Amino acid sequence: MKLLVIGSGGREHAIAWRLAQSPRVQKVFVAPGNGGTAREAGLENVAISAIDKLAEFALAENIYLTVVGPEAPLAEGIVDLFRSRSLRIFGPTRACARLESSKEFAKEFMVRHRIPTAKFSSFDAAHAAHAYIDARGTPIVVKADGLAGGKGVIVATSADEAHRAVERILVERTLGAAGNRVVIEEFLEGEEASFIVLADGEHVLPLATSQDHKRLRDGDGGPNTGGMGAYSPAPVVTPALHARVVREIIRPVLAGMAEEGERYTGFLYAGLMIDGSGNPRVLEFNCRLGDPEAQPILLRLRSDLLELIEHAMEAKLDRVEADWDRRAALGVVLAAAGYPEAPEKGHIVTGLPAPAEDFRVFHSGTAFKDGAIVTNGGRVLCATALGDSIKMAQRRAYEVVKGIRFDGMQYRGDIGHRAVAVRKALT
Ligand code: AMP
Ligand code: GLY
Repeated sequence: MKLLVIGSGGREHAIAWRLAQSPRVQKVFVAPGNGGTAREAGLENVAISAIDKLAEFALAENIYLTVVGPEAPLAEGIVDLFRSRSLRIFGPTRACARLESSKEFAKEFMVRHRIPTAKFSSFDAAHAAHAYIDARGTPIVVKADGLAGGKGVIVATSADEAHRAVERILVERTLGAAGNRVVIEEFLEGEEASFIVLADGEHVLPLATSQDHKRLRDGDGGPNTGGMGAYSPAPVVTPALHARVVREIIRPVLAGMAEEGERYTGFLYAGLMIDGSGNPRVLEFNCRLGDPEAQPILLRLRSDLLELIEHAMEAKLDRVEADWDRRAALGVVLAAAGYPEAPEKGHIVTGLPAPAEDFRVFHSGTAFKDGAIVTNGGRVLCATALGDSIKMAQRRAYEVVKGIRFDGMQYRGDIGHRAVAVRKALT
């Protein structure tokens, strides 16, 4: 059978690579894909992005199943469109995807269904937003309502910074329509974790836990990015916390959606802040796998990903379990000079190692051109390795990084530092 994966990042490389391992799969098309998916056995890139053209392609190629990587096509309604043409596709409908595409919707949904999250208010008028900031004080968090590719959240430590964020988003419209409204919320302290599940409308299958590193520089400094590295499992998610997150957050999302007339199917990602007492609160929902969380998670997955997704499509996730490599996995993102603001493109990548049993280099912003891999985006590669502990996976991933070169390459040297510190404290 033939499958189709939508997207062009490291997450999609990992999804397509994993799906291609399924014995029933002949080929996985990736639209539009990247330099890594162009070169990977069993995968083939197709240069299509418009969702109606993708549906035509899926019909013409008799695609058995389409899996959607990024949020934009979900928010655009690709799942609704494919379903209306009787095409099998895995992901949430446009209405369900509002959990990610509108922060205001997500916050109000959480209030309606008593899901723990930071206190907030939302505004379309700048003067009211400014007054709210003055009344609440700092630190405070300003978020553009719509999809902003990771650029829409400003954690302001000074009132000045918060006011400037409001001006940029609501008045100068630097994020376009994504900034028609802002959500302003209470600053939460604690440790972050990513909690990702497969959902079938009724049941959920939690994936291995993970944590990413959003800041550009070592020691969690510099601007927020899409994610500079990730590891799995996340020791902050203890078994007790895991059970609470499913009970207090994940199940209420599915039940709430069903109550509101929508069944949530697809990946569901809760970005969590765990406070000092171990209470989880939701920072954000994503209606997809995380990038780069997907890379370490899928490197650890031993079950057939296609079978898991088929169970989800048939609302039978209660009848399946996922099997994970007992080893930890850790991925280090290699980014282009200028990332996240204005990444340089077009540099040749050298020293890419052939994959081995305990590591793979997933491609994100790369293209295959004239026989060479060249940089083609902000996050270029994610060197992902397995190890008996997070520390060992970290060591292995950085060994892999060592040989890889491209002009202006930047990466963090401390991916996994929190988990490694936890281990040290325990031993
Ligand atoms: P989001 O896209 O909403 O997850 O926000 C991006 C990042 O901003 C998160 O991963 C956090 O590091 C930070 N952040 C978002 N909301 C809050 C909050 N209420 N308190 C503290 N940090 C936050
Ligand atoms: N790494 C965070 C995200 O995918 O949104």
